[in-house]
Amino acid sequence: MQQVKYILFTLVAIVVLNACSPADGDFAGSEYMPDMGHSIAYEANVYTDYSLNTWEDASTIPYRQGAIAKEPVTGTVPRGYAGAYFSDIERREEIMAMLNGEDGVNSINVPVNGSVPYYYEDTEEERTRAIAEIIENPYPITEAGLEKGEELYNIFCGICHGEAGNGLGYIANPDENPNYKYPAAPANFLLEEFTNASNGRYYHSIMYGKNVMGAYKDKISYEERWQVIHWIRHLQAEELDKEYSEDANTLNPEFGTPMSQMSRMASAATDMEPTMAPAQEAPAEEGDHGSDDHSSGH
Ligand code: HEC
Repeated sequence: MQQVKYILFTLVAIVVLNACSPADGDFAGSEYMPDMGHSIAYEANVYTDYSLNTWEDASTIPYRQGAIAKEPVTGTVPRGYAGAYFSDIERREEIMAMLNGEDGVNSINVPVNGSVPYYYEDTEEERTRAIAEIIENPYPITEAGLEKGEELYNIFCGICHGEAGNGLGYIANPDENPNYKYPAAPANFLLEEFTNASNGRYYHSIMYGKNVMGAYKDKISYEERWQVIHWIRHLQAEELDKEYSEDANTLNPEFGTPMSQMSRMASAATDMEPTMAPAQEAPAEEGDHGSDDHSSGH
């Protein structure tokens, strides 16, 4: 019995003493099960030869090499600039070179970090101003954009406004959700009032919400907001048996320009200032463009 006590005591003493051995010189000290208690600092965008990076035996890229400044992947479109990218199919390479700072000896690649300014406050007057002033969707209508808009709409808006846009999402639909207690009816986008409303009404609501509806500006990016708006237009067009797609927009040409019309616009506008904004009218016949009164009409 006595012996067992001594053995136990000795074992405990060894463990305790070992646990306390201090770090010294090249010896980092002992620690039982450090698990992830200490991370290897990853210095982003800094040249470093931090010598304690010890992960890489098995990996193909030494960690040390991974910790240096990175170039964006070739062809990266800065956030908020997809509109420029799509604005002119024929000049894409040129536009990319400009965005990536390759178009001149002294040009600098300034990464755009996704923050697109919004010049309207969260007040009723400013809401009215936004509705009056924000007309065009800066992104053309594309197949891929509509797909993305649909997905985002169903994630962020459909629960209230309904996947069909009729204001009868699960949260406010007594048939689907008999216990519903949502205090206000979500807008029905299929009503004439909303079909006729300018894009600003949607954009402003996404930025600030309205009454019980919260804001979505921190949840969906600039481009995503506009794709969601394209999708709402698409739902409205469907309701009215009209088209709102990459090929045609028979809902209202003010709301968005189909991708298929972008290149025609670009070639018809070679002698005009390049612009990111879609034209208000469908392009006229080739012959029309030479005449002075037509160009002054814009
Ligand atoms: C949690 C429920 C909810 C979600 C999610 C939601 N909304 Fe709403 N939304 C509402 C309600 C409720 C109203 C009515 C507010 C009012 O008029 O008082 C409304 C109103 C609106 C309006 C009309 C504002 C006006 O000018 O009258 C728009 C546009 C709108 N929402 C867009 C969106 C979009 C786009 C999304 C997704 C990004 C979204 N909403 C997500 C509940 C929601």
